[in-house]
Amino acid sequence: MKKIRFLNLGKHPITNSFLSKINSKKEFFYNLRLVYHQDTKLISLDSFVPPKKMFNDKYAHRASASITMSEAYKNLAKKIKKKFRPKSILEIGSNDGVFIKHFSKIKNIGVEPCRNLANVTTKMKIKTYDKFWTMYLSKKILKKHGRFDIIYSANTISHIHNLNETFKAIENSLTSQGVFILEDPSLLKSLQKISYDQFYDEHAYVFSITALKNITKKTNLEIFNIEELKTHGGSNRVFFKKKNNKEIKVSKIVNKHLSNEKKFGINKLKTYQIFAKKVKDSKKKLIKIFQKLKKRNNKIIGYGATYKSSTVLNFCQIDKNYISYFVDTTPTKAGKFTPGTHIPIKSYNGISDDVDYAFLGAWNFKDEIFKKEKKFRRRGGKFITHVPYPRII
Ligand code: TMP
Repeated sequence: MKKIRFLNLGKHPITNSFLSKINSKKEFFYNLRLVYHQDTKLISLDSFVPPKKMFNDKYAHRASASITMSEAYKNLAKKIKKKFRPKSILEIGSNDGVFIKHFSKIKNIGVEPCRNLANVTTKMKIKTYDKFWTMYLSKKILKKHGRFDIIYSANTISHIHNLNETFKAIENSLTSQGVFILEDPSLLKSLQKISYDQFYDEHAYVFSITALKNITKKTNLEIFNIEELKTHGGSNRVFFKKKNNKEIKVSKIVNKHLSNEKKFGINKLKTYQIFAKKVKDSKKKLIKIFQKLKKRNNKIIGYGATYKSSTVLNFCQIDKNYISYFVDTTPTKAGKFTPGTHIPIKSYNGISDDVDYAFLGAWNFKDEIFKKEKKFRRRGGKFITHVPYPRII
């Protein structure tokens, strides 16, 4: 399998590794380089970070932390119940139960390797396996609970390194009429928005529909529908069925996505080389904005110490000399320091009056944030963003 490197984003820390104390010598760094797989058209990191370094009992992300996301999961649960009337559901990467908790009336099982999170759903009386998703686990769950009508996985499959095994295990755990729903950031949207921050340790892959089709070719799974989502700045919800299930028809949308991707050049190396050039330009422009504002003695903070912002800050080397501190609503991040760039994180309590600019770490929640921060904007406060190009808003 030939892979070709097209972008080097430099040395990066574990995005989820918020530091209690700054001890640079102990911090783990890896090379963040992106590659294009010639045969499957997959885009992935060149070398993967060992899973246990990322997904452990200190995992900070809480899916319930965002009101937008909590509401979206609640609505999705309603839609799934109405459309598929499942008798059983399995979620791979159940986090703090934000989605699976809505299925308490049917057999609902969670898989979540981060023990601190698995403990949360276990307390909610949801049977949760605190293990990585593998064929071994699929077989173990099958023995105890049988197969599932729905398998759901949001922002998780792109984190799992062995995709062949992952899809085989899903196929193994799905009933013959079952539906597998995958949600992950869209490669097409990332390329269009020059959102290179979609790439970090956890995102081993950023999927195109083209690549998903190619890597599931050898399985009994096929894509029958796709929904576009705003999540993470642009995601796809991809519905798979078993190939021999003729009751579900394949929507025309699938081919439309494939041809749109082809038109964009998803299956051409040249597309990624152009993207790489745009990413380097984006870095130069963002640094210039920070330098200019700092020269004029503006106070700049970060808004939302997201994983994505870790890629931007480490790649552009924007550290505490530029950003005084971050505000973030996640309780487990408060009082800590951002990985690699060591910017202090404060718990969110509004934006204080002495702040002139706020870097939008959580740019994908821009609408929610702008609604919340009317006062800051009214008094002349401004946001800095890098998506789709570095600018002040
Ligand atoms: P993410 O890495 O999944 O995008 O997480 C979003 C982070 O941004 C999470 O730590 C919460 C934070 N955040 C805020 O601090 N304020 C907000 O208004 C929103 C929407 C997110």
